[in-house]
Amino acid sequence: MTGPEQKRLLSEAYRHMPQGVAENYRYWGEERTIFIASAKGCELTDCDGKTYVDFRLGYGPIILGYRDARVDAAVIEQITQGGTLSGFSTPLDIKVVQQVKALCPNIEKMRFANSGTEAVMGAVRTARGFTKRKQIAIVEGAFHGLYDEMMWKSDIESWDPAGTEEPRVIPFGAGIPDQSRNLLTIIQLNNFEQLDRLFREKGDDLAAIVLEPIIGNAGSIAATPKWLRYLRDLCTQHGTMLIIDEVKTGFRAAPGGAQQIYGIHADLTTYAKAMGNGYPVAAFGGRGDVMDSVGAFKGGVVHGGTYTANLVALSAASATLNILASTDAWTTIDEAGAKIRDTLGRVFTAAGIQHCFAGPPAMFGIHFSEFVPMNYRDWRMTDSDLYTRFAWQLIEHGVMLEPDSREPWFICEAHQSVDLGWLEDVATKAMREAKS
Ligand SMILES: Cc1ncc(COP(=O)(O)O)c(C=O)c1O
Repeated sequence: MTGPEQKRLLSEAYRHMPQGVAENYRYWGEERTIFIASAKGCELTDCDGKTYVDFRLGYGPIILGYRDARVDAAVIEQITQGGTLSGFSTPLDIKVVQQVKALCPNIEKMRFANSGTEAVMGAVRTARGFTKRKQIAIVEGAFHGLYDEMMWKSDIESWDPAGTEEPRVIPFGAGIPDQSRNLLTIIQLNNFEQLDRLFREKGDDLAAIVLEPIIGNAGSIAATPKWLRYLRDLCTQHGTMLIIDEVKTGFRAAPGGAQQIYGIHADLTTYAKAMGNGYPVAAFGGRGDVMDSVGAFKGGVVHGGTYTANLVALSAASATLNILASTDAWTTIDEAGAKIRDTLGRVFTAAGIQHCFAGPPAMFGIHFSEFVPMNYRDWRMTDSDLYTRFAWQLIEHGVMLEPDSREPWFICEAHQSVDLGWLEDVATKAMREAKS
């Protein structure tokens, strides 16, 4: 329940923005829509003065901590000395690409974008331009941004797992034309048969498969190394571009992202979120020959935009990547995540709740089930209602997270200071309340 000031703000906001919010997913209902006054480290303070330890981290971008002084100083220096943008190239363009390449050997050439959505659009267009093919495929349960073609999903919520019907494929909402689905196929994670069928039926016209090997929008459920290797090999055989969407996993799951964990390289990769510790920066890149199809020459793939490689974004990215590459920040994040996960595990065990964790410590999913889900349909079998009740109770007790087990717990460097005894205590209370 939010306090009186946030209720007042929401009633005022209704007059100015649809549902009173600047973005659909921020509306949590009349009693629960949160307005934040300030953020620092791993803490948020709402407009009624309540403080939360935050594991949502703005859906993942915060990798060091809110208002990280090192990153903010670099941005302030850039904008006061050099400006924000000029519509021309700068030396920082090259420097940031070099920094990304030093962490991610899958990148030979890269271009910038302003959001994960834009990075995915750029990668898909590049794949189509390079292969001269049209069809693309994605994995059930994944999310690749807010543009029409990617806004189709299997309706798992109203699907009957005990029945024989497949889930319906539906648009995320209104305004998405049916035609935008014509070139899209949705396959299930870790399903070998569906991969074989996809390549058999569409192989010659399949420009790209876009996937997150660790699904950041389905509780970090992950591809098996064997399945991902099989997919990689099929893509290579068929000349299909493997696009790994590292918008959530990039610079987070490991310094070199999910691709470092699997030891498998994509043809094209997208980055955003952790790349700039909360400043809006994104990128797509990969094989040099594929990326060289982008350009202002006849037949080249179009890429650009007024704010591309703006210097607020690039100075933040440069500082963030420098910290991740040259300090032990990432080890700290990994260790903090493992301790937080273990603390929660103890709480669930003590409460007699069957549970399992998915994904790496820096973005782990919690599933109330005996086995780690192998795909999105398995997720439907988990006790996600219990998770949601537990999450709402945690929020009441000052732990911020998304009340949906499809969103992982995000860890940043500043979480090293979390009082684990306090967390165990409030999680124990929250679980007791959720169960009752
Ligand atoms: C895997 C993935 N790709 C793309 C996007 C879209 O990124 P953005 O919200 O920055 O447009 C998201 C957003 O959460 C994401 O998780």
